[in-house]
Amino acid sequence: MNRAWWKEAVIYQIYPRSFMDSNGDGIGDLQGIISRLDYLEYLGIDVIWLSPVYKSPNDDNGYDISDYQDIMEEFGTMTDFDQLLNAAHKRGIRIVMDLVVNHTSDEHRWFVESRKSVDNPYRDYYIWREGPDAQTPPNNWGSCFGGSAWEFDSETGMYYLHLFSRKQPDLNWDNPEVRREVFDMMSWWCEKGIDGFRMDVISMISKTKEMPDGEVHGLYGDYGPYCVHGPNVHRYLQEMNEKVLAKYDIMTVGETAGVTTELAKQYAGENTHELNMVFQFEHVEGDGKYGKWTDEKLPLTTLKDTLSRWQTELYGTAWNSLFWNNHDQPRAVSRFGDDRPQYREASAKMLATCLHMLQGTPYIYQGEELGMTNYPFEGPQDFRDIESINAYKEWCVHGVLSHEVFWPCITFKSRDNARTPVQWDDSPQGGFTTGTPWIPVNPNYREINARAETADPGSVFHYYRKLIALRKQNPVIVYGKYELLFRESQELFVYTRTLGQEKLLVVCNFSPRETPFAVPDEFVGAPLLISNMENAYDRAVMDLKPYEAFVLKKNL
Ligand code: GLC
Ligand code: CA
Repeated sequence: MNRAWWKEAVIYQIYPRSFMDSNGDGIGDLQGIISRLDYLEYLGIDVIWLSPVYKSPNDDNGYDISDYQDIMEEFGTMTDFDQLLNAAHKRGIRIVMDLVVNHTSDEHRWFVESRKSVDNPYRDYYIWREGPDAQTPPNNWGSCFGGSAWEFDSETGMYYLHLFSRKQPDLNWDNPEVRREVFDMMSWWCEKGIDGFRMDVISMISKTKEMPDGEVHGLYGDYGPYCVHGPNVHRYLQEMNEKVLAKYDIMTVGETAGVTTELAKQYAGENTHELNMVFQFEHVEGDGKYGKWTDEKLPLTTLKDTLSRWQTELYGTAWNSLFWNNHDQPRAVSRFGDDRPQYREASAKMLATCLHMLQGTPYIYQGEELGMTNYPFEGPQDFRDIESINAYKEWCVHGVLSHEVFWPCITFKSRDNARTPVQWDDSPQGGFTTGTPWIPVNPNYREINARAETADPGSVFHYYRKLIALRKQNPVIVYGKYELLFRESQELFVYTRTLGQEKLLVVCNFSPRETPFAVPDEFVGAPLLISNMENAYDRAVMDLKPYEAFVLKKNL
């Protein structure tokens, strides 16, 4: 397997709006990030993935871009950005930009032009269709954020496609001019010295020309079969690779909802000349009761089967990205661990062990390294996210579910759980801002915060530091071959990793109960690499404590 810096790296995702506010307006910003680079250097991460910082009217918190070559006013200026890039590079930290090119904002100048007339030079930059009339869209597709995926535009009496909000019109990638513009813009950022791209919903850029109705789920039809992994997606990515990516020493990760291992081998194959890796979502999807909404955890056996399949099938041919959460997912410890006070720290460390010992590049979402939890929402007025606001309306206000049934589900999965401010210390607003934060700080900031955790060698923070450091010292963690043990166990996730003469045993108790465990013979007496408990592992047969995790390493 080829070595690469991005395989050996640990990536830290920053959602700038909620990371650190430098000027008291309640909104995180670039100077705020700069002020916390020492913290990130101390943690030991190699790369920052910056969620979008471009100019945007913020219909979807920056995932609706109105100028790809300018910075969102609330976040600062291009000078601040250059300063951030320099300051990060000085510390040996690389910066990966979020590339959102499936759609733009409707306030992007291309779209402002496009909607003016059918013969405008920018008309064909977007996807326009006729509908039978102003009330009946061209087909039944629903948007990800609720409602039809088509918006009628009275200027020309036609509809435009938006798979997300109506303020996020989809670009027409079949137009070579669009591809040229996007590739030029990407080159411009590369010339600036950025270190890569995380590509937003990149699996959706190619749509089938015929746009038939989709299978109806709920109120609308599913566009999936016609827009996700569409006919030309690989051709366009290869073209992007040839025109831009191959020219720079950068890394790329594609957000590819609905991706299978087979498709991932194409998107992120060692020799397919598309992307370096993709985000797959099988382990964070499939738990929904009402659409994506649920209040239930996936059974551990399902989680293990999914992750193991990805480990095994990509081995040697493509590269995994590893994550428990991001800005679109609830907090890892609340979802896969246990955020009750007596179990929070242990289960956060257990999850970290489990993920960081898998093969692939690990991603840490801001605050995960502190064991930050889901937010105790009191009512729909607490939501800031367009997805949660619309979903509550669609399922409860206009829909079929009672508040009592839906509330535990939407609060368990809402994206706003991840978007509450990073908890820096125990001062008002968790040290995030001196003003009023755009979204409330989780009240548990008094106990859970970076100042307390950096001062406590037994904290979740220091455990992440240790895991990151171990990765640098043990190539087996990066490149070793994976094998699952005790597949049927509903409490334990146990696996080995093997590289050359070295072998790891990774043992994670996902349950709040003591669980008996016998160390496999070949590992009896092997030295301990890391453990989330004191006095853990001293016998071959033992009762694992709730959420206990440890790793043994032996020489073959
Ligand atoms: C991606 C982003 C998400 C955004 C959507 C539309 O899924 O991660 O935050 O809402 O794309 O851009
Ligand atoms: Ca600010």
